[in-house]
Amino acid sequence: MINKIIKPDFKSTLKEDRVFHPSKKFSANAHIKNMAEYTKLYNESIKKPEVFWAREAENLEWFKKWDNVLEWKQPFAKWFSGGKINCSYNCLDRHLSDKGTQSAIIWDGENGDKRNITYNELHEEVCKLANVLKGFKVKKGDRVVIYLPMIPEVAIAMLACTRIGAIHSVVFGGYSSEALKVRINDARAKVVITVDGGYRKGNKTRMKDAVDEALSGVKFVKNVIVVKRNGIKVQMKKDRDFLYGDLMKKASSVCQPAKMNAEDPLFVLYTSGTTGIPKGVVHTHGGYLTQVAMSAKYIFDLHPNDKFWCTADVGWITGHSYVVYGPLLNGVTTIVTEGLPTHPTPERPWKLIDKHKITQFYTAPTAIRMFMKIGRAWPARHKLKSLKVIGTVGEPINPEAWTWYYNNIGKRRCPVVDTWWQTETGSILVTSLPGATPTKPGSATLPFFGVDVAVVDMKGKKTKVNEGGYLVINKPWPSMLRTVYKNDERYKKTYWNEIKGVYFSGDGARRDKDGYIWIMGRTDDIIKVAGHRLGTMEIESALVSHKAVAEAAVVGKQDEIKGEAIVAFVSLNLKFTESEKLINELGAHVVKCIGPIARPSQIIVVDDLPKTRSGKIIRRILKSIAEGNEIKGDTSTIANADILEKLKKL
Ligand code: WTA
Repeated sequence: MINKIIKPDFKSTLKEDRVFHPSKKFSANAHIKNMAEYTKLYNESIKKPEVFWAREAENLEWFKKWDNVLEWKQPFAKWFSGGKINCSYNCLDRHLSDKGTQSAIIWDGENGDKRNITYNELHEEVCKLANVLKGFKVKKGDRVVIYLPMIPEVAIAMLACTRIGAIHSVVFGGYSSEALKVRINDARAKVVITVDGGYRKGNKTRMKDAVDEALSGVKFVKNVIVVKRNGIKVQMKKDRDFLYGDLMKKASSVCQPAKMNAEDPLFVLYTSGTTGIPKGVVHTHGGYLTQVAMSAKYIFDLHPNDKFWCTADVGWITGHSYVVYGPLLNGVTTIVTEGLPTHPTPERPWKLIDKHKITQFYTAPTAIRMFMKIGRAWPARHKLKSLKVIGTVGEPINPEAWTWYYNNIGKRRCPVVDTWWQTETGSILVTSLPGATPTKPGSATLPFFGVDVAVVDMKGKKTKVNEGGYLVINKPWPSMLRTVYKNDERYKKTYWNEIKGVYFSGDGARRDKDGYIWIMGRTDDIIKVAGHRLGTMEIESALVSHKAVAEAAVVGKQDEIKGEAIVAFVSLNLKFTESEKLINELGAHVVKCIGPIARPSQIIVVDDLPKTRSGKIIRRILKSIAEGNEIKGDTSTIANADILEKLKKL
């Protein structure tokens, strides 16, 4: 929504001119060894996308080859149409003859539990669960909601859906029952797969209860499958709820993979937007699988026997593409961890890397800044010699955190890949290639193969060197979202209407003299808290649904660790007065509506909010106040100017 865009502060204050080159030794063994190789392939991918992508798609196994690589009727793309493929087959069956006994998943539970699952075993589990779903009459195209913590069953459930062509929708385990309900309803799920409860910092959490609440009054969800994880007592509704273990005991381990059309939906993943309910981002089989497989291979320089650890939760796109699908499509081992990396001690990640000889480590700037704060003594005790590539994703990384990561985790040996992408893009679009690209701390560097990006102004005109603008993508790419679930109009409006003829990412960026891209953050009402994407509007509607709140405005405030922290400004209904109790209650109310990730770090009660004559809240001003900055820019549009003085006193 263009009229909602906070006028971005496009003046970049970042001055960073250090350049880090990959070592000769690393480059010699890398898939892409130098910039000449990158440039050659990149040029081909842009000039002859059909040739380029057909070659990449051929690395997967297709039941039937596609008729056309791309059909593009803006904004609707079809990739590899006519082709038939199956996701679980490509992640599992195709590796069994030579990698059957290799670990597919190494799992590290937060309470000390561990599991090692080979490709043979994972295949068997996936087939069994696929048969269980079939037993519940789940068919091609039916939606299955997965609400699980980071346990192997989350990957098993996703793969089982893809085996039979059901569309999975994973809901982050930290979302509340209300947030879960919105997603279950929009997807009209037939089955929900959940757990009794999980663990957080050693405490048992309850998740099945949230499902029960979310399903009250819901008729279309026919069955709930409950994995036993922490053993707490939960209610089981007769004929609806069944224990995963009981079902799996009886299930056959033979299940033929469904032959899916390349353009059939693979999954829906809900993500926050600037208006309305969260958007169900739809990804499809052929294009998503092709680009996720190849991006994982080149960007993390995957080789056989690598052990890849991405710390993201499967509830987010990073978990989909680089915990589950990317590594498994490439036949390497994926490390799945439950709970915080600092629990039980801050040594956990480094111990794990040395123990399993992990080769790639992919995490978020928030985590890196947290490791920094805890101190380098923890990683210093560990050799981390197995690591080859370290990556970052989710928010802009400050050069200080980047260099700390490079020095203390990469031990000045491993290239850092700063990877820019979105739920909507399906896979990494802007990144360095570890064996080729000279990196600059804080820059996501250059477009990946097949990605035609630009930084433009609102009219679509390219900005000058180092001048800020909007990051857009000019041409379709295979793993792009196809639509917003059941809402083509919203898809068109959100992504293809803001700037004519191009995909609008919502991010601000600049390009330097070498063409390097520096992401400057969101330009709309989306904030990233510890890498989690939240719409300010969602938090505002949660606040105003409390009886004490008349109006609310939420802004992101710079935070040393989390990148951004949530600050809420609220005005109260007449009968209510400000008190610590009420503030706590409002925080708890947001947790109830969305989940703990959305709890504001500060709630400020005000008499009124600064507004334009048409009644629109001017968030820019609130952001300055939250960050303790001087209010700059035009204030003449404020209708209730007297409030400004009061706000300044805050
Ligand atoms: C931000 C996460 C700077 C960006 C994969 C984007 C980044 C949003 C980077 C998408 C990066 C992601 N540098 N910013 N390397 N990667 N972002 O959908 O604002 O959860 O639009 O997908 O994260 O968040 P999402």
